[in-house]
Amino acid sequence: MNIEPFRIKAVEPIRFTTRAERERALEAAGYNVFGLRAEDVIIDLLTDSGTGAMSAAQWGALMQGDESYAGSRSFERFREVVHDLTGYKHIIPTHQGRAAERILFHSTLQPGDLVLNNIHFDTTRANIEAEGAEARDLVIPEGRLPSLVHPFKGNMHLDGLESVLRSEGDRVRMVMVTVTNNSGGGQPVSLENLRAVRDICRRHGKPFFLDACRFAENAWFIRQREEGQQQRTPKEIAQEMFSLADGCIMSAKKDGLANIGGFLALNDDSVAQKCRNLLILTEGFPTYGGLAGYDLEAIARGLEEVVDESYLRYRIGQIQYLADKLMNDGIPIVQPPGGHAVYLDAAQLLPHIPSLEYPGVALVNALYLEGGVRSTEIGSVMFGVSPDGVERPAGMELVRLAIPRRLYTQTHLDYVAYVVAAVAGQRHGFHGYRIVSAPPILRHFTARFEPLMPVAVM
Ligand SMILES: Cc1ncc(COP(=O)(O)O)c(C=O)c1O
Repeated sequence: MNIEPFRIKAVEPIRFTTRAERERALEAAGYNVFGLRAEDVIIDLLTDSGTGAMSAAQWGALMQGDESYAGSRSFERFREVVHDLTGYKHIIPTHQGRAAERILFHSTLQPGDLVLNNIHFDTTRANIEAEGAEARDLVIPEGRLPSLVHPFKGNMHLDGLESVLRSEGDRVRMVMVTVTNNSGGGQPVSLENLRAVRDICRRHGKPFFLDACRFAENAWFIRQREEGQQQRTPKEIAQEMFSLADGCIMSAKKDGLANIGGFLALNDDSVAQKCRNLLILTEGFPTYGGLAGYDLEAIARGLEEVVDESYLRYRIGQIQYLADKLMNDGIPIVQPPGGHAVYLDAAQLLPHIPSLEYPGVALVNALYLEGGVRSTEIGSVMFGVSPDGVERPAGMELVRLAIPRRLYTQTHLDYVAYVVAAVAGQRHGFHGYRIVSAPPILRHFTARFEPLMPVAVM
C-alpha cells in the first residue's frame, strides 16, 4: 500500500465554492484559469512548481538562514549540497529556473543559433527565441504518441540528433535534455540514452546541459525500469545523470522541494564567468542570486530529502494511483503516467473540437466549473504560435493535472478522479474557445478567451 511517508503538522483550509460562483469567477478571468484567484479553486493542480509542502526540517532550516550579502554560510551549505549531487564546478543560485535559462542563453547564444532538446519547456523555448535563436525538439517518435506505452518516452532521438549535428552542426550551440520531459507528459529519460547523447555531443564538440527540474523523479524511474539499476540509490543514479552532462539548469521549485529558487551549474570557467556577470546585473551577488539566505537553506535541505527512497516511492505511487483510477473510468491519458502529473488527452476526449478551437482549454474550464479543479492546457494555446507569428496546431492537445509535492492526500485525488469522470460524461456538450487577446510570447499565461457557444450549465 502506498501510504504517505509523513504526518501532517500544519493545515490550510480549503474554501468550497458553488458552481454559480465558479461560473462568475471564470468569466471574470477571461476563461483562462491562470486569471483565477487561488481562493476560488478547490484542488489546485495548475502546477507542481513551488506549490509543495516543505518539511518540518526545512522550516527549521529557514531559521538558520544567513542573510549576509556576500559569502553567507547558507550559500556554502547550498553549494556543498548541489556540488555533492551534481559534481559541477560552478554553482550559481538564481531566483527560479527561468532566470537560470535566461542567464545561460544570454551568455552563450547568438541570433541564428540552434538549441536541441528532447522537448523544450515553454519558458526554455521562449528564452532561446528571445535571443533570436531556434529551439528544436528531438524526442523519440514514441514520445509523441499519448497512448503508447514505452518505459522512457522522454528519450532523445539519437539518429535525429546525429543527423542535425551533421547537417546543421555549425548552428548548434548546445544540446539539452529535459528530465523528466515535462511537455511530453513528465516522461523519463534513460541512463543509456543520456550516455549516448553525451557521446554524440563529445564527438561533435557540443556542450550538453540537463534541464534538471525533476531529476529525482527521473532517477526513480531509471531505478524501476532500467536494467541493472535496481540496486542503486536514487541519489547514485542522479549523480551519474549529472556526471554525463557539462552543466544543468534547475528550478528548485520542483525537485528542490522549495517554494522558490533555482540554479545554474556548469564546468566551463569562461561561460560561468559571463553568467556570474549577468547574474550581478539582474539577479544579485553570486552567493545569493536573488534568493534570501533562508531560501538557500530550504533548497539545500529539500535536495537531500527529495532523493529519499520512501519519498520517491510515495510520490510516483501517488501519480500512478490517480492515473489508475482515471484509466478504470476509461479516461484517455498519456501512457504510462509521468513523474509529476497525469496528462489527459483532450484531443481524444473532445474530438469534435478542432485544435485551433482549443480542446485543452475547453477541458480545463470544464474541470474547473464542475468541481473547482484547476489544471493547465499543454497544447495549441501553449505551443501553437511559431516565432513567425503564424498559429499552427501543436502536436498534442494535453491537459496536465500536476500534483504538488506532499500537499494533497489520497482523498483529494479521489475527488479529482470523480470530477474528471463527471466531466467526461458530459463531453459531447462542450464547445471550443476563441482567443480575444493574447501577448506575443508565453500567451497561455495571460490570454483571454471567449466561448464559441455559451458555456453549458449542467
Ligand atoms: C522542464 C522545466 N524547465 C524549466 C522550468 C522553469 O522553471 P521556473 O518555473 O522555476 O522558472 C520549468 C517550470 O515548470 C520546467 O518544468
